[in-house]
Amino acid sequence: MSDLTGPDELLTEVLARYDDAPNERLKIVMQAAIRHLHEFVREVDLTRDEWMAGIQFLTATGQICSDTRQEYILMSDTLGVSTLVEMLNYSPTEGTTENTVLGPFYAAGSPERANGESMLDDEDPGDEVVVRGRITDPDGNPLAGVVLDCWQSNTDGWYQVQQVDGQSDFNLRGIYRTDDDGRYEIRTVRPGKYPIPHDGPVGSLLKANNRGWMRPGHLHTWVKHPGYKELITHIFDRKSDHLYDDAVFGVRESLIVDFTPDESGELAATFDFVLDPA
Ligand SMILES: [Fe+2]
Repeated sequence: MSDLTGPDELLTEVLARYDDAPNERLKIVMQAAIRHLHEFVREVDLTRDEWMAGIQFLTATGQICSDTRQEYILMSDTLGVSTLVEMLNYSPTEGTTENTVLGPFYAAGSPERANGESMLDDEDPGDEVVVRGRITDPDGNPLAGVVLDCWQSNTDGWYQVQQVDGQSDFNLRGIYRTDDDGRYEIRTVRPGKYPIPHDGPVGSLLKANNRGWMRPGHLHTWVKHPGYKELITHIFDRKSDHLYDDAVFGVRESLIVDFTPDESGELAATFDFVLDPA
């Protein structure tokens, strides 16, 4: 053991305790986390009260978690860490469609829907809209049979999984497939903006920093095709509020569409996907 005469000697000693860690990756992650944590504490000159406030915040964050609520993911989302992990792990090749966060409201087992079918099963006061386009490889060749697993909130900003007693089982959820020409067509309602859960410790921290908790309206898609990277992304409505202060940093300029009347007078947006070979 070295003589713990100050912060530098302390850090050296803490890091040294990991020298014999058998899992090399865990060792790298732990030593980096400790280095940054010590640096952070020193940079802000953390007081004892602030240290305790941090402990209590983390405790409350854990205590509010349940089978249906994951406050730590919410914390990660609002700190931009979820988006950072997506940026580092997906890294789309130039010219292919950008990805973004999965979010907490995906549910497996949505029904197959025909091209052009509406995924709106319930009454909704919003604008009915069409999202259509083509899915191709990076050379522009159409990809047939591509799966688009889609989900979105209703006009009031609620997902079916949040209102299992208030919405039909598969309202605003559906699995579409591209035709032989790589085309898909989804009928739906203009997705509503919505608040992320803000009645817990993460919400309190947002409020304490004058930060918002809203997300702009969007359609989620999880696009799957053999030989290509699975693409989890959103399509955003340019008319929605909060495009530029999304609480979870999910918006990409390339994912924003305009709904305008098409030849038949329907409000429609075109969004073409370019998949990235695996
Ligand atoms: Fe969402």
